[in-house]
Amino acid sequence: MVSSASNGSKPEKLMIRRALIGIAALGLGGVLTVAMLDRNGLGSATAADSIEHGRYLVKIGGCNDCHTPGYLEKAGNVPEDRWLIGGSLGFNGPWGTTYPTNLRYLLRTMDEDDWVQLARTIETRPPMPWFNLRAMTEADLRAIHRYVLSLPADDTPVPDYVPPDRPPKTPHIVFVPQAPKS
Ligand code: HEC
Repeated sequence: MVSSASNGSKPEKLMIRRALIGIAALGLGGVLTVAMLDRNGLGSATAADSIEHGRYLVKIGGCNDCHTPGYLEKAGNVPEDRWLIGGSLGFNGPWGTTYPTNLRYLLRTMDEDDWVQLARTIETRPPMPWFNLRAMTEADLRAIHRYVLSLPADDTPVPDYVPPDRPPKTPHIVFVPQAPKS
């Protein structure tokens, strides 16, 4: 078709040149994408994507429900700079009284690999759903770490765990199934 330059009309040659440039650009784009996937090994193209994915997981994975003060009570209407700072509203049951950890503080004490290791082996007292954390993929766990570290540092203290034989000194939710009164 392009056998002789003199045969091709001007617009036709222009179109062919544009098509060739387009194909070259696609090829280069593909190489770049593969290189990026390779670099972070997550299957997500950029660090910003994985932070956004971590934010999504924290939101729909229920972490805020307990680890963000007031989140459940205010139907999620809590400013993001208060997310995951832990809470002093205890959960009281046969295990004693537990307090949701300040994850903004905790995750800053460990790098991504340590966090993956912790999440893979975690077992806590109730009502923390530690088994859900264990079930997450490594990419999801890394995304959560990246998201939490993208929030400003926060070291709001959380009350210590109280064993069953001692009454809690803070407000707490009694987390014990009740039989219906007949
Ligand atoms: C139903 C409430 C609840 C939900 C939902 C919840 N947590 Fe927890 N979490 C807790 C409580 C309470 C503790 C403290 C447990 C203890 O003292 O043994 C805790 C502890 C933890 C710990 C252990 C901290 C340490 O010191 O080792 C991690 C990590 C954690 N939560 C992460 C998460 C993440 C990530 C999510 C979301 C996927 C989540 N939690 C969802 C209540 C919850």
